Amino acid sequence: MQCPPRHVALILDGNGRWAARRALERIDGHSAGEEAIVAAVPAAREAGVAWLTLFTFSTENWNRPQPEVDFLMHVNQRVIRNNTQHWHELGIRMRYLGREDERIPASVQDDIAYAEDLTRHNTGMTLTTAFDHGGRRDLARAARAIVAAGLTPSQVTEDALAAHMQYPDLPDIDLLVRTSGEHRLSNFMLWQAAYAELVFLDVLWPDFRAEHLAEAIGLYHRRQRRFGAITAPAQTRAGLLDGSVSAR
Ligand code: IPE
Ligand code: MG
Repeated sequence: MQCPPRHVALILDGNGRWAARRALERIDGHSAGEEAIVAAVPAAREAGVAWLTLFTFSTENWNRPQPEVDFLMHVNQRVIRNNTQHWHELGIRMRYLGREDERIPASVQDDIAYAEDLTRHNTGMTLTTAFDHGGRRDLARAARAIVAAGLTPSQVTEDALAAHMQYPDLPDIDLLVRTSGEHRLSNFMLWQAAYAELVFLDVLWPDFRAEHLAEAIGLYHRRQRRFGAITAPAQTRAGLLDGSVSAR
């Protein structure tokens, strides 16, 4: 059996279109999308994925109408409140990437802090929720941390930048899936996506289930990853899998 991709990241897209096709409100699409999140997490764990990242709210999503923003906050909170205990029992470590904006309700921040704290030592799978996340802001944050640490210009290397990211141990993305047929990164994890295999599925996020994850992983296995070289030496591939070599 082939090794599953180590880090799978999902860009959740298509909730609004899912609702429109049923003559429902956009928020109904977000509620339906919640079920897909709840299904995707154990499916990834079962597939042997060690790192799963879900993009649930972008720094640009603040520009949506306020009632929709409020509802997205609510959905994210509901996901945490309804699933933290179960995910904890599955050995999942929960983390929230981004979450800097002061418009995030304090009770959501509290729930995040609780979930992160409770699941901190779990080793089954790391579930990172990119929530109020933007790839460029992430990089600006790392640059600020580097300045604050007083590094000299010659010390500002790629490794130094990686070490000053919010979660320095978050590995490069192996498989990046976007649903709904859109072909964009939308400012998602620009640093970690450098060598990701991109898979675009036509399924709308609320319809996404274990079989779509399996389909994406199947497409991933048919790709040849060379990381800028002509072939992928067996040693490098093994190193990438155990994290001892970074993908560049
Ligand atoms: C993704 O679905 C949900 C989030 C942004 C969190 P959209 O709301 O972007 O759905 P479409 O693109 O309008 O169909
Ligand atoms: Mg969209």
